[in-house]
Amino acid sequence: MSKETKLTPPTRKLGKTKIKITPIGQGVMQFAGGHGFMKMVYPALSDQESNAIVKAALDNGINWFDTAESYGKGISESKLSRGLQAVGKKDDEIIIATKWMPMMRRARSIKRTIDERKKYLHPYTIDLHQIHMPYSFSSFQKQFDAMADLLDEGHIQSIGISNFSAKQMIKAYEILADRGHILASNQVNYSLIKRKIENNGIMDTAKELGVTIISWSPLQSGILTGRFHENKEQTESLLMGRKMMSRVSIKKSQKLIDSMRLIADSHKVTIAQVALNWLINFHGETVVAIPGSTKPKQAEQNGQVMNFALTKTELNDIEEISRDFL
Ligand SMILES: NC(=O)c1ccc[n+]([C@@H]2O[C@H](COP(=O)([O-])OP(=O)(O)OC[C@H]3O[C@@H](n4cnc5c(N)ncnc54)[C@H](OP(=O)(O)O)[C@@H]3O)[C@@H](O)[C@H]2O)c1
Repeated sequence: MSKETKLTPPTRKLGKTKIKITPIGQGVMQFAGGHGFMKMVYPALSDQESNAIVKAALDNGINWFDTAESYGKGISESKLSRGLQAVGKKDDEIIIATKWMPMMRRARSIKRTIDERKKYLHPYTIDLHQIHMPYSFSSFQKQFDAMADLLDEGHIQSIGISNFSAKQMIKAYEILADRGHILASNQVNYSLIKRKIENNGIMDTAKELGVTIISWSPLQSGILTGRFHENKEQTESLLMGRKMMSRVSIKKSQKLIDSMRLIADSHKVTIAQVALNWLINFHGETVVAIPGSTKPKQAEQNGQVMNFALTKTELNDIEEISRDFL
């Protein structure tokens, strides 16, 4: 799509908060590539490369970014901050989501680590702080009390969770409600070839509670681009972490990819864009997606997902053909 025909993407409320996010956000886990355990998944990106990705996302209407403490212990967060500063973005012009890593830790580390998060993201402030997974040594009560304190003290603007089950979501929601706060979001693996949340109560609970579902790995690490279906040898060049994931699903998703290719051609978009468009539209405003990128062109195309509409028939056809993944 040319620059002249670019539309201003609509925003949605993040859960029941006042925060307005675009249906596509930019995941920046890739900015920690080449470091720690991320070495097994993504190669390192230079500042020049990560800055170009941030710029491409912003230029194509994306207004928020998802990072985490565990993405290189500040590497992804500070690269994101440098990318935003490089294009002169002001804090009130963008939305930042980050996460606290609970593994092998107690709730008190939520408050102990908040200054680090703020330091790495400086001068940008935290709009959404998420508990990365439900695996702390401390009770939910203690963890959400600590998160509520951060909100009361003005360190963060809203609270989310990630990888929580329906039951755990309800518990988190109730504890926060007792403190007069809202549970904004649950970030989970949701894509056209990972549709379990539609069957295990997570999607229904999110809709009932008005909690936004943030889809992580919305392209299932690139499988839903169709590129590995076209050329299976391409998986050989992937780092070990991604190679293992991709082997499983390529054969099973061939029919889905073939159908999406026809739809993509008729809209003059890519298969990846169709897959993302389905995710952010099939469930009304409940689901938003945060595709990651290793190249600016990908961020550009992902932002442009917000510029076209699949028909109702196309949305339903894709739903039907991906039912094997429910
Ligand atoms: N909460 C959690 O537990 C959790 C877990 C994982 C991820 N996340 C979040 O979710 C984000 C996204 O997940 P992800 O990066 O694992 O998976 P993803 O978004 O499904 O896949 C990203 C990969 O797909 C390819 N890609 C992206 N856009 C493309 C496009 N337009 N055209 C062609 N290829 C494209 C790129 O592959 P190549 O690099 O090979 O080109 C990219 O590295 C992360 O950045 C992170 O913020 C959260």
